[in-house]
Amino acid sequence: MHDIIQMLDEKRAKARLGGGQKRIDSQHKKGKLTARERIDLFLDEGSFEEWDMFVEHRCTDFGMEQDHTPGDGVVTGYGTVNGRLIFVFSQDFTVYGGSLSETHAEKICKIMDQAMKVGAPCIGLNDSGGARIQEGIASLGGYADVFQRNVEASGVIPQISMIMGPCAGGAVYSPAMTDFIFMVKDSSFMFVTGPDVVKTVTHEEVTQEELGGAITHTTKSGVAHLAFENDVDALLQLRDFVDFLPSNNKEQPPVRPTTDPADRDDSSLDTLIPDNANKPYDMLELIKKVTDEGDFFEIMPEYAKNILIGFGRMNGQTVGFVANQPMVLAGCLDIDSSIKAARFVRFCDAFNIPLVTFVDVPGFMPGTDQEYNGIITHGAKLLYAFAEATVPKVTIITRKAYGGAYDVMSSKHLRGDVNLAWPSAEIAVMGAKGAVEIIFRQDIGDADKIQERTDEYARNFANPFKAGGRGFIDDVIMPHGTRRRICQSLAMLKNKDLKNPERKHGNIPL
Ligand code: HXC
Repeated sequence: MHDIIQMLDEKRAKARLGGGQKRIDSQHKKGKLTARERIDLFLDEGSFEEWDMFVEHRCTDFGMEQDHTPGDGVVTGYGTVNGRLIFVFSQDFTVYGGSLSETHAEKICKIMDQAMKVGAPCIGLNDSGGARIQEGIASLGGYADVFQRNVEASGVIPQISMIMGPCAGGAVYSPAMTDFIFMVKDSSFMFVTGPDVVKTVTHEEVTQEELGGAITHTTKSGVAHLAFENDVDALLQLRDFVDFLPSNNKEQPPVRPTTDPADRDDSSLDTLIPDNANKPYDMLELIKKVTDEGDFFEIMPEYAKNILIGFGRMNGQTVGFVANQPMVLAGCLDIDSSIKAARFVRFCDAFNIPLVTFVDVPGFMPGTDQEYNGIITHGAKLLYAFAEATVPKVTIITRKAYGGAYDVMSSKHLRGDVNLAWPSAEIAVMGAKGAVEIIFRQDIGDADKIQERTDEYARNFANPFKAGGRGFIDDVIMPHGTRRRICQSLAMLKNKDLKNPERKHGNIPL
């Protein structure tokens, strides 16, 4: 017995050392933590239960039969974050560059299967040189096995990818199918083909960072949702992030007790909207003034800034916020903002997270660039997402709600449950000036007449009462009472029960 215990200790020590001290030092020198250090930081202290520590690869080519590291380049298992069960895999770059072998993939699949069985989130900490080159096709099969599970788990358990090193080639498609991709600045990158191949094929000279670094993907491509400063920052913020989410699609999101009164007024909101309707104001300020303790976890803050998305809590309950941002492109909806918000709305709907939508939208962005690139299809994504969502939907129109964009932004017609407007709301087919220039085209040369018509149109239509008169909004509220009204609405909607027609699946305009 003594011998076997000693052997166990030795095997565990060997596994914990991964690719050896030299490679661990090299990982640290790059400013990166090891796979196990990352798990320790992410999960509650002492909660990690590791699986498959003794799994080894089965490759016998290229002398691989002589070279075995227990665990085979990925640490897998489960633990808790603030007491709630979470499954995690963490690729170990010190073992063959974290590359994915057949057995490495099997380990990931095993915890994904278990996470699905018990209904708990699955988090990947990615740091990998891609397919294990010595294994070839076997590792390709392994990737596909992971992909299949990503798809089956989509909308059933939350899946999050934290990219903490290389992620290249087909390997990028597993994170791409998870709900959120986060990256660490300067040490992570994602691309389908690296700079060398790019140079050969397109003759472009580009660095790894420019091609697929955290800044590129959170500002230009929109592939990743957040960029963190370093491993520690990333993992601590990931802990806060998962706290907003339910464990699976059958659960409600966790409720966190708050000392912030649900009926707290904020009189500063009464002067948030400038007198001049063309002057912007910061919608982020409004969100932070209504959420519990002013806490708002913004997602994709540097991409398509004309729309804001993120999580906050209202009276302790997780809420997904979607809001036009008048500070950027006057809050117009364009291709990028529609896609950004649509995916978020669908995530919230899949995981029982109520939606609160703040509307100040002058319309869809005009222009050939938008039309040629398919604003019709992409704008329809947001329309589709709001329309199919069955979670509680509360909408507040603060100022402009014009044209098709009015319909899209969680309007009453798309089964909005509670639709409110501030007195400053302008709910109309279009802005007064544009409308007059069309319907009184014959008067365009007469500035006084046009002004008179414009004033008349604005008086008649740039207000919330025409919509109120038809029941398209439920009430006109004072801005200072916004938090109270949202909390009341969400409480009223707590037992909302709405189902879409039975079908295999809808066909969202992709
Ligand atoms: C086996 C690998 C490996 C891989 C790295 N290593 N990638 N071993 N298979 N894919 C090993 C290296 O041999 C080295 O071993 C150690 O990991 C660290 O690698 P370095 O190159 O020294 O590190 P670094 O300079 O930081 O560069 C990291 C890297 C580079 C950018 C990831 O290693 C690289 O380009 N690797 C190859 C990437 C690649 O082409 N992968 C296959 C893509 S195809 P020692 O023993 O020296 O420590 C693919 C298809 C997926 O992934 C398809 C899915 C459908």
